[in-house]
Amino acid sequence: MDIVICNNIKKTFGKGATAVQALRGVNLTVKKGEIFLLMGPSGSGKTTLLSVIAGILTQTEGDCVIGGIDLNHMPDYEKTLYRGKHIGFVFQIFNLIPMLTSAENVAVPLILNKWDMKRALEKSKQLLSDVGIADKIDAYPVQLSGGQQQRVAIARAMIHQPDLIVCDEPTSFLDHATGMKVMELLRDIVQKMGSTLIVVTHDPRITEFGQRIVHLEDGRIIETRIN
Ligand SMILES: Nc1ncnc2c1ncn2[C@@H]1O[C@H](COP(=O)(O)OP(=O)(O)O)[C@@H](O)[C@H]1O
Ligand SMILES: [Mg+2]
Repeated sequence: MDIVICNNIKKTFGKGATAVQALRGVNLTVKKGEIFLLMGPSGSGKTTLLSVIAGILTQTEGDCVIGGIDLNHMPDYEKTLYRGKHIGFVFQIFNLIPMLTSAENVAVPLILNKWDMKRALEKSKQLLSDVGIADKIDAYPVQLSGGQQQRVAIARAMIHQPDLIVCDEPTSFLDHATGMKVMELLRDIVQKMGSTLIVVTHDPRITEFGQRIVHLEDGRIIETRIN
């Protein structure tokens, strides 16, 4: 089953002489359970495409269907609800909330899904221990290393067991060994949960994790490889 179907996606930022065509007609499918890597040089449209797939940006042309649903034809509040239930995000910059502890940061998606605080924090602590940082549940983001912050971000992205996890350059600020550990962790989690993973990267060291690897250049797919 295809969990993501993109059909001739085009995205233009701005208008007239200063318009930038970030995506120029992208077709792709991602299968349920797959680990899908989106690669390409800086400025090739990776983040834009990931944002369209995740329903954060609206494309200029084309359709994007996620789990059988076309987010583009949904009112904004329904789209936000859908995203909050079914999609988990890991960004390049960890985006943790500085005044919340690790456990509180990870619990945020559950609180948004109306869990009560006590249950949410219990589940959050369990997950932080699954990702190997049980001793950091009460630490604040500034007290954590880059690798530890990324683990918190990953735990937060998966706590509500989303069908799809999207990651934008999850290893770019991490040293090689930590980056590999983070990717292994993502792979294990996705396999255990039966979720699907899309990772944007220009880090060639992590290609071994991809089952399908798509190369983007200048807003177009120039190569698809299956591992
Ligand atoms: N919000 C925006 N406004 C204007 N141009 C943008 C915006 N976001 C991205 N772009 C442009 O679109 C192109 C693709 O950007 P992006 O998707 O961020 O590439 P990548 O993630 O591969 O580095 C770039 O030329 C970038 O400058
Ligand atoms: Mg980017």
